[in-house]
Amino acid sequence: MKGIILAGGSGTRLSPSTDSMNKHLLPVYDKPMIYYPLSVLMLAGIRDIMIISTPEDTPRFQKLLGDGSELGISLKYREQAEPKGILEALTISEDFIGKDKVTLILADNIFYGQGFTTILRDAIKKHRYATIFGYRVKDPRRFGVVEFNDHQKAISLEEKPEEPKSDFAVTGLYIYDHRAVKIAKKLTPSNRGELEITDLNREYMKWNHLDVELLGRGFAWMDAGTQEALFETAEFVKTTQQRQGFKIACLEEIAYYLGYITKEVLFEKGKSMEKNDYGQYLMEIAQRKHTEQYWDSVAHHPMMGLVENE
Ligand code: DAU
Repeated sequence: MKGIILAGGSGTRLSPSTDSMNKHLLPVYDKPMIYYPLSVLMLAGIRDIMIISTPEDTPRFQKLLGDGSELGISLKYREQAEPKGILEALTISEDFIGKDKVTLILADNIFYGQGFTTILRDAIKKHRYATIFGYRVKDPRRFGVVEFNDHQKAISLEEKPEEPKSDFAVTGLYIYDHRAVKIAKKLTPSNRGELEITDLNREYMKWNHLDVELLGRGFAWMDAGTQEALFETAEFVKTTQQRQGFKIACLEEIAYYLGYITKEVLFEKGKSMEKNDYGQYLMEIAQRKHTEQYWDSVAHHPMMGLVENE
């Protein structure tokens, strides 16, 4: 399974904050936005990941995350010349995907909830052709919307409909087989001039090859694409972290618990940032004796969720 994070776009809805800075590098409370989608792919067990961004911003992501070896994963980078649509993420990375399956995540999407690792790993395990994740929202008109029957089979899909047929938004997390690239190449831009991911999902739906996983009411999904949403997401992260004392989307912590990096590497990374809260957190995790033993026993079990075991 390959992973793709789409982190380009124009970010105009967050202007002027994004006039000289890519949206996905803006902080969501205590870490850059891209940490959140990257943590999702890591928790899913995906280690071969491509980050796609604009020609100006790709080097900035490279500077931030490098080749991924510090996290025990492999990161590659590719440019999207212009924001022509989400679907381009697949065509741009055709050779990277090859004959593999691929999980695509939009870099402004933030997922958090108990059992998420299990949901993800289960979805990947039973994946057939295409899997999308639905989430009930108050204002579905802002999103792709999926309508489904009693058997949770998608029966309609619309991008930002005026009159939504359901309250279920399609989140920016998609799992496809390798045929997605071929299908994507045949699709044409929508009225807003973009290659829409919803059109691809509709193709799979026509063949009865689209599966919908629902994220329940105890789950948080946020699309931090507007000023208001970004602020709300940061507040959510702050409140949750301060209450529990666990960080959300701390990449080094995840890499450690998955057995990708050692306690020593984790500690050294923390030490390099010891003056700030993030660094101190890493050092503290590296020194937690009981947790370490506990995690050692669960982290290597391939189907064991992580978040829900806390
Ligand atoms: O967040 C979920 C929603 O994301 C889905 O419900 C919609 O079906 C899907 O179309 C998408 O809608 P958005 O209006 O949020 O898409 P947006 O244009 O904001 O792009 C989403 C992310 O992808 C954003 O972080 C920027 C990036 N992007 C977007 C485009 C169009 C690119 O990197 N390149 C692009 O060409």
